Amino acid sequence: ETVEWDADAAEKGGYEHYMRKEIHEQPTALRQTLSGRIDLDRGDVDLDLSFPQGYLESLEEIQLVACGTSYYASQYAATLLEEFADVRATVEIASEYEFDGGRDPWRTLVIAVTQSGETADTLGAIRRAAGAGARTLAVTNTLGSTVTRETNDTLFIRAGPEIGVAATKTFASQVTTLALLAVAVGRGRGSLSTADARDVLENVRGLPGAVQQVLDDEARVTEVANECLGSDAFFFVGRRFGYPVALEGALKLKEISYDHAEGFAAGELKHGPLALVTEKTPVLAVLTAGADGSETVNNLAEAQTRGAPAIGVVSDGAETGSLDCALEVPRVGVFEPLVANVYFQLFAYHVANLKDRSIDKPRNLAKSVTVE
Ligand code: G6P
Repeated sequence: ETVEWDADAAEKGGYEHYMRKEIHEQPTALRQTLSGRIDLDRGDVDLDLSFPQGYLESLEEIQLVACGTSYYASQYAATLLEEFADVRATVEIASEYEFDGGRDPWRTLVIAVTQSGETADTLGAIRRAAGAGARTLAVTNTLGSTVTRETNDTLFIRAGPEIGVAATKTFASQVTTLALLAVAVGRGRGSLSTADARDVLENVRGLPGAVQQVLDDEARVTEVANECLGSDAFFFVGRRFGYPVALEGALKLKEISYDHAEGFAAGELKHGPLALVTEKTPVLAVLTAGADGSETVNNLAEAQTRGAPAIGVVSDGAETGSLDCALEVPRVGVFEPLVANVYFQLFAYHVANLKDRSIDKPRNLAKSVTVE
């Protein structure tokens, strides 16, 4: 008798796809991301960065450059930076980026956010910034990658290898790493108090457990995905931190299911996209803390009036109103949309899986795009 040994199946550790394995690895990935970096007593973080003395205080702007999922993680992070560090933070799609750092370019910190560290568009952007005299920082998952050799500093997200083309655990670890950076910058600039920093860090420490609770609710997501199978298109909406998550949720779904999916700022639904809404276009909304859920509920109601099924992610124990389906996330403040994103990952996965798509290697896409 011979036993068939399938190396690929063994690598997937019992999961049918890398993507689902990597979605489920998020609590572990996040613990690695945070390991040894949080000092709750001091209300500070230790990131081993070599900013020169006085650099953070004199900083005028932070520019994040990225592509794809890393771009949405950067959008989330820019708002965190503005909130915790009282610094102007902008995000630009790497392929569109031109450095504009004013008279003193060194006072602009340009951060390349790239899982692989090899994306040509992002490398091009960071080279333009460095060439113009900006200080640069890489936020990446990949030791020894090209981006780490082109920047003044590197911050590793420590998510572990990601094989599925659709980025999942690396998004969570990117946002979490950048949240720690926002605390570091806020503390360095004196704009974040010890008490406020502790509150933020308590919520960050709650992330692995919060994500685990969402993973434990996967069976419900499978049901919802099943009910949505005959849909014409899917719309994702959110405000504030819920907005980049809406964009990321839509990206995940289109990448692996090939269904039409779009993310909108919830307030924009009425300015055009509402024309597309029918009873065959489910609307998925981020209604948690950090996403001004009570305002988005009103936008969602306009879609429901047109017959659209409304699926909302809400804070644990919150009012669920007239939602067709309410999915709950534990209370972790401004990080609740990041946890809500795990529902969207599972939703994309199950819609694609029910359609028998090539989940780990979607058509036309590559894990790392090394051409501009
Ligand atoms: C490709 C991948 C995406 C990824 C993007 C940026 O398009 O398919 O999943 O988000 O590149 O990759 P990076 O490695 O720079 O984060």
